[in-house]
Amino acid sequence: MFTPYFKKEFTLIMIKPDGVVDGHTGAILERIEKEGFQIRALKRLVLSESQAGAFYYVHRERPFYGELVKFMASGPIVAAVLERDNAVAHWRKVIGATDPAEAEEGTIRKLYARSKGENAVHGSDSVENARLEAGFFFAGLDLLS
Ligand code: RTP
Ligand code: MG
Repeated sequence: MFTPYFKKEFTLIMIKPDGVVDGHTGAILERIEKEGFQIRALKRLVLSESQAGAFYYVHRERPFYGELVKFMASGPIVAAVLERDNAVAHWRKVIGATDPAEAEEGTIRKLYARSKGENAVHGSDSVENARLEAGFFFAGLDLLS
């Protein structure tokens, strides 16, 4: 991916179908800005099952993969590239643990997730994966403004 215009670290995030359908898009975008992230690219779309499967390909051998792919293709998502110092780690802290029952108070998953599988948001788990995942959703041109 073409990223010479980023001054700071970036991460790729999604608001998952439960977060969108349950009406939390606005609150989550507001939280993103309150946490000091710059929204560098943003879009709403519905993934096909093959697209969702490709995004989560790393989990293809896990028992929850089929369920995860169906869920991620079940409705609209919002994908965004967020820039900030320490963006990857900071976003993971803001969203909390995968299972909302284990997430800290005030985290996005504690506030908005339905369950461990339907957990409101995604965040890249490394700088390298953030590059790959940003390239999955956005072209270089989308990131230059
Ligand atoms: P994500 O990649 O979506 O940001 O989530 P994560 O790093 O916190 O969790 P990961 O281990 O990468 O799992 C990816 C997504 O798969 C679903 N999952 N379901 N039912 C289950 O036991 C289970 N475990 C994982 C969740 O949607 C999780 O976010
Ligand atoms: Mg993950």
